[in-house]
Amino acid sequence: MQISSEFQDKIINAFGSDGQTWLQSLESTVQTYIEKWELTSDGPVANLSYNYVIKVRDSEGTPLILKLGVPNFDTRNEMVTLQVYDGDGCARILKSDPKHGVMLLERLVPGTMLSEETDERMVLENYIKVWKAIRKPVPKEGATPSLTHWFEGLKRYRESGDVQISMEHVQLAEEFFQQVMETSEGPQLLHGDLHHENILLSEQKGWMAIDPKGVAGDPYFDVVSFLINQLESKSDPKSILKLRVDTISKQLGFDRGRLLKVAIALGTLYACWGVEDLADWETTYQCVKWFIEFQE
Ligand SMILES: Nc1ncnc2c1ncn2[C@@H]1O[C@H](COP(=O)(O)OP(=O)(O)O)[C@@H](O)[C@H]1O
Ligand SMILES: [Mg+2]
Repeated sequence: MQISSEFQDKIINAFGSDGQTWLQSLESTVQTYIEKWELTSDGPVANLSYNYVIKVRDSEGTPLILKLGVPNFDTRNEMVTLQVYDGDGCARILKSDPKHGVMLLERLVPGTMLSEETDERMVLENYIKVWKAIRKPVPKEGATPSLTHWFEGLKRYRESGDVQISMEHVQLAEEFFQQVMETSEGPQLLHGDLHHENILLSEQKGWMAIDPKGVAGDPYFDVVSFLINQLESKSDPKSILKLRVDTISKQLGFDRGRLLKVAIALGTLYACWGVEDLADWETTYQCVKWFIEFQE
């Protein structure tokens, strides 16, 4: 089994020694679950990021996905979230071993990503269907993290001494987060990362979500990672962003002003995370500034 050095570097950068330990036994873990669950491998997917994802088939030839992640809270929380969705609007989880970070999922075929669809109105229509299909209550028994916990990231950023994101915007984000919490009808289970690359086409079921983070919060927050995504390649990103805000407000019956506050709050948090992780943050920050302009 070939595990690219690019993938290994990414894992070690993100997870440190836990990542290193996980990589050392990855090949044997894959083998163990292939045998235990009677699978045959069609090889890893082309676009690996922080998980090792393999196309497999069961003994009847049904196409499935074997996904292996560093066994930690996030991986276990993803499994719990997938179990709550239970195949509604999201690829179904069939088997899992939380202790070892291994899950067996229904494979969406052909698996085209929503980012490959070019007509923005079609993208919005399909996105909205998936958003509606995955509404669920927060699981009672679990330890689902909350948006309030996520937003502690703003305080951390404030204390870091970084200046790329202005303190004026950080403060605005904190204020808007408080304001929308006061007008919230209560938390629901959010996907937490519902953007174009986490929505795939199934010829049998239509567009479906994959890869949920699982977080408890007001449902408005579950549109923000989509709003700010896939804009770099657009000739007029600001107009596309406005079309997305307007269409989503209308189709989901959202209060547009409240949605913009949510988008400014979470967009700013994403930009701060981007600075912290040395990832791309400029486009996200530009979106925050556009959301502020749209408020006028
Ligand atoms: N259920 C699935 N059906 C088809 N392809 C999948 C499925 N789950 C994951 N993939 C493929 O694997 C890639 C990475 O999986 P994903 O769950 O998004 O992992 P990560 O958490 O690393 O982003 C996806 O972009 C997609 O190409
Ligand atoms: Mg993903």
